[in-house]
Amino acid sequence: MDLGIRGKTAIVQASSKGLGYGVARALSREGVNLVMNARTKSEVFAAAAQLQEETGNSVHAVAGDVSRHQDLLNLFRECRQTFGDPHILVCNAGGPPRGHFADFNRQDWNSALQNNFTSAVTAVNQVVKPMLKNGWGRILFITSIAVKQPINDLVLSNSARSALTAYAKTIATDLAPNGITVNCLLPGAHRTSRLGQLVQDIVEEDGCSIEEAWDKLGTHAPIGRLGDIDEFGSLAAYLCSRQAAYITGTSILHDGGAFKGLF
Ligand SMILES: NC(=O)c1ccc[n+]([C@@H]2O[C@H](COP(=O)([O-])OP(=O)(O)OC[C@H]3O[C@@H](n4cnc5c(N)ncnc54)[C@H](OP(=O)(O)O)[C@@H]3O)[C@@H](O)[C@H]2O)c1
Repeated sequence: MDLGIRGKTAIVQASSKGLGYGVARALSREGVNLVMNARTKSEVFAAAAQLQEETGNSVHAVAGDVSRHQDLLNLFRECRQTFGDPHILVCNAGGPPRGHFADFNRQDWNSALQNNFTSAVTAVNQVVKPMLKNGWGRILFITSIAVKQPINDLVLSNSARSALTAYAKTIATDLAPNGITVNCLLPGAHRTSRLGQLVQDIVEEDGCSIEEAWDKLGTHAPIGRLGDIDEFGSLAAYLCSRQAAYITGTSILHDGGAFKGLF
């Protein structure tokens, strides 16, 4: 299916690897001009070169930390200079640290909110005017299954992502009449480096191999395996498509059936 977004411009934050990379790859395969971002310059430049080689479409890399205001502004400046204003914005960032609620101080909370909430608000403020002018836009926030089913010891993540979900729903209503959709994608467990520490813990506790530990993590989902970044990317690309014009203000799980509730 042609998603009807060839020639549009997308910014995918935090995309040198993992879920962000899966989204970047899916959009580049659709012929989108892509701006990728991550903090580690060598990795984001290598990932961009690899994607451009693979898809034959234009990919530009910008190193920067989305939780730092100046880095974020620079990301949008470079996009405008290279391709023009973005038509598609995918907000993503690394996850906050694990821990019990009593372990975290004011600074920890401020950092988590800056990383996983305020950075997205700033990013939207950068794109919304040109999207309104164009009468077309796609905004996607990568959050987590945790907004429907909070995860133990991830109080910072559970809370910051829930705030982002409320923000997304609010602006989706405001922007809907202008051809701009706003949605959240909620990953369950996917095979990315984010889960590397959990895999190490299983190896140490069970004495199994790394591959067996990855398989074991996958058994938490009824489908019986971890999610794949290309599967995730395909869903994201669809939500950014011309055909997805009637989907807005919603949160969509990609979790292999792991969520235990009804809705
Ligand atoms: N994987 C899962 O199963 C899962 C499930 C639910 C939610 N999530 C959430 O989804 C998001 C992506 O997870 P992932 O599994 O794809 O992680 P990952 O494989 O560790 O990849 C994270 C990517 O984000 C970049 N990044 C991290 N912090 C950044 C920052 N402040 N500014 C810019 N780039 C940054 C990393 O590169 P640099 O380190 O070089 O910056 C890397 O490219 C996280 O918020 C995670 O908590 C993941």
